Amino acid sequence: MKDKEHKKLRSQEWFAPSGGGKGGFVHRKAWRKNQGLPADTYGKPVIGICNTWSELSPCNTHLRDLAESVKRGVLEADGYPLEFPIMSTGESIIKPTAMLFRNLMSMDAEESIGSNPLDGVVLLTGCDKTTPATIMGAASVDIPTIVVPGGAMLNGRFRGKNIGNGTYVWKLKEKINSGELTEDDLKDAEVCSARSEGHCTTMGTASSMACMAEALGLTLPGAAAIPAVDARKKVMAQLSGRQIVDMVKADLKMSNILTRKAFENAIIINAAIGGSTNFIVHLQAIAGRMGVELNLQDFDDLGSKIPLLVNLMPSGKYLMEEFYDAGGLPVVLNYMKEHLHNDVITVNGKTLGENNANAICFREDVIYKPSEPLQKEAGIAVLKGNLCKNGAVIKPSAATESLLVHTGKAVVFENMNDFRNKIDDPDLDIDENSVMVLKNVGPVGFPGMPEVGNLDLPKKVLEKGFKDMVRISDGRMSGTAFGTVVLHVSPESAVGGNLALVENGDLIILDVPNRKLNVDISDEELQRRREKWVAPESKAKRGYPNLYVNTVEQAHLGVDLDFLVGNSKDN
Ligand code: FES
Ligand code: MG
Repeated sequence: MKDKEHKKLRSQEWFAPSGGGKGGFVHRKAWRKNQGLPADTYGKPVIGICNTWSELSPCNTHLRDLAESVKRGVLEADGYPLEFPIMSTGESIIKPTAMLFRNLMSMDAEESIGSNPLDGVVLLTGCDKTTPATIMGAASVDIPTIVVPGGAMLNGRFRGKNIGNGTYVWKLKEKINSGELTEDDLKDAEVCSARSEGHCTTMGTASSMACMAEALGLTLPGAAAIPAVDARKKVMAQLSGRQIVDMVKADLKMSNILTRKAFENAIIINAAIGGSTNFIVHLQAIAGRMGVELNLQDFDDLGSKIPLLVNLMPSGKYLMEEFYDAGGLPVVLNYMKEHLHNDVITVNGKTLGENNANAICFREDVIYKPSEPLQKEAGIAVLKGNLCKNGAVIKPSAATESLLVHTGKAVVFENMNDFRNKIDDPDLDIDENSVMVLKNVGPVGFPGMPEVGNLDLPKKVLEKGFKDMVRISDGRMSGTAFGTVVLHVSPESAVGGNLALVENGDLIILDVPNRKLNVDISDEELQRRREKWVAPESKAKRGYPNLYVNTVEQAHLGVDLDFLVGNSKDN
């Protein structure tokens, strides 16, 4: 990369302010001189290491060690590294849902980066929301930024077989019901599924987010798939530490990398890898921070005809370790080059095309060729109709093909408690042809839009041997989940979307090939019901949840807080 000459470092506004005087004196002294630093430290690029390490965030516990490798790289390149903590969200632990806090975490990242004397920043990420939240925050500041994805755990291995986090858990109810597993077996499976530090091993949201960061050009090539505890992860972190100093010298900022073309590439790659549906709300929120136009329909237009190449759970068979062995994302980026904008710049100053042109696939059973894909069409279908005027989404590659066109009677659950109370009631009028409709799990309704859309099937349907039914909600679904599940219905029921008006027995018509989702009732009847509808009382009376429900945008816009959209442009 060519250095941009005479560009004053941002940190110099703190340490050597124009006119000299006591401002610089105070900042130099109060800030770091007490650490015993030589005077020439103050002219070096200051690199923040934004660490989402937390013992409350089990997928990110190794990031403290990994930060040491980043620091080594920064020092080698003659920068000055400063690690700082921000809020972290452990998907499997934090209540009521990590998604409620993605935007809060992004505010922490933005203010920590923007308000401090940093010339560049390295984002250490792992668990689902920690990647989009930190990227959103950094995007709003727009200084040179590189992502070091924390990496997945080692493969879960149980009795000679791979078991994928999440995906396996969703199958447990079936296995226990069928007598295939006992409670004792479960205890064994639990420890076998989490063999090392790192995030979930399937192509769930965390892996999809790491791949998103690489596809956007925000990581060094090949970073996304390296397992958390592989020695090569440390190498990648050290090289990223060196690289961020070069990025500062070249003034290569996020806005140079995160162009509309980069977002289009990310959509195409998320389809080819069979990535999470959560990718949609995260990518849109990042685009919103960068001021790049990206709407829900773009995900269908650009992604839905893309072939599925990566044979990972939940759409396929393997886990992240095999993906890395097979060559990782560079192979997919190379295979998909005909569909991509290869001329976009990435963090190493080279184009996406240059970075991945020589990637070789080492396992053809893990990464398929586009000419013989695992599935001809992957990606996300965006549905429209009187049930979802602003859209809803479904991941056809994770669904049952025969249910993609389906008409069935609605069985309505007003909220998650209602669902839990009723689902295994023997008197519940439900069979395999019914359509399960769950209300009040959207951004405002829950609040926070939890991952509950892949509702468990009723026992009496499972006992007949059926493994899937059509399910519709305004919530999300874990990236590790599967099934004929319509998600992100917008507007959500809690703000008066038509989903709120559906009653038991209404006919629901799903037609994925024609992108339609309707309830078969007249506009007049909808209007009659609307007049009687009363909004549910919000549980979010104070604090951040109250701020959230009053300012959160609907799913089709990315679920950011309305006042966070955009870029601070303060540097
Ligand atoms: Fe953290 Fe799955 S719980 S990635
Ligand atoms: Mg997840």
